[in-house]
Amino acid sequence: MKKTARAHTNIALIKYWGKKDPKLRLPLMSSLSMTLDKFYTDTSIEAAEENSFYLNNEKQTSNASKRVFSYLEMLKKKYDITDNFTVSSINHVPTAAGLASSSSAFAALASAFCAYYNINVDKKELSRLARMGSGSASRSIYGGFAIWQKGDDNSSFAYSLDEKPKMDLHLLAIELNKNQKSISSTKGMELAQTSSFFETWIQKNDSELNEMIQAIKDEDFTKLGSLAELNASEMHAVNLSAQPPFTYFEPDTIKAIKLVENMRTQGIECYYTIDAGPNVKVLCQLRNVKDIKQRFESSFNNVTIIDASFGPGVSYLD
Ligand code: PMV
Repeated sequence: MKKTARAHTNIALIKYWGKKDPKLRLPLMSSLSMTLDKFYTDTSIEAAEENSFYLNNEKQTSNASKRVFSYLEMLKKKYDITDNFTVSSINHVPTAAGLASSSSAFAALASAFCAYYNINVDKKELSRLARMGSGSASRSIYGGFAIWQKGDDNSSFAYSLDEKPKMDLHLLAIELNKNQKSISSTKGMELAQTSSFFETWIQKNDSELNEMIQAIKDEDFTKLGSLAELNASEMHAVNLSAQPPFTYFEPDTIKAIKLVENMRTQGIECYYTIDAGPNVKVLCQLRNVKDIKQRFESSFNNVTIIDASFGPGVSYLD
């Protein structure tokens, strides 16, 4: 009998961008995220004769399934399990277009695996296991605001800062570009460490995390938005100053940044954040959602905008 888990994707307001140990996926910095209601992955797992992976009901090639099954190998070894599996994921996230679908994917996979074998783990241990599939997945175990702490293999997991925040906070996911990203986050983080600004980035991240925690406690949207924007810009600055330099930005990314800055000067308070892809996410409050959507729609052709707010932690569907 299969087991299905649902995990929502999260967006980092203070980013993880650099690994201390790539194999164990240990970060060089702690990070903080908002779990989103509109984007999630449902993953079911069932023992089978041979391994197969279906994504959105399509059977994936063994190459595309490699990451899933090498992650499951690690879990099987840990818990002394010898089964093969049918894994099936339905992704309610635009795949690889700048919203980290790997965060919901590996949080759902780790949760479904533990539920299938009745492995009794608390949320911190589940987060630790999810971390080994994808760093950002550690935070998707929780709803609301979560913090993933740096540390060693045993202490690097996420915990909840506030599962059900009351803050008026919306995230508009602006899908400008549907292409898959050309530089994976793993490769991007590796390259970023060659930047001469990398040490500064780690230090700044540390102090910005503390300021962000305070902004959330104070429900201070202005502080939260401006810090998230600064933090994202710093992350992209280490990419631009890497050797060789690279960027996830496309011309439309810059155009969207300018539009956000422009709206701000006109009194529409909003801030941008950008991950490892060309798409822009806009942080705003409910009263400005409609206006901001309209301005993006009139500035870009064929733009898809999804208005998201706080989502829940992992749940089980059967
Ligand atoms: O864990 P990954 O490989 O999905 O990397 C996530 C990297 C960023 O999305 C850019 C930042 C973050 O903290 O989520």
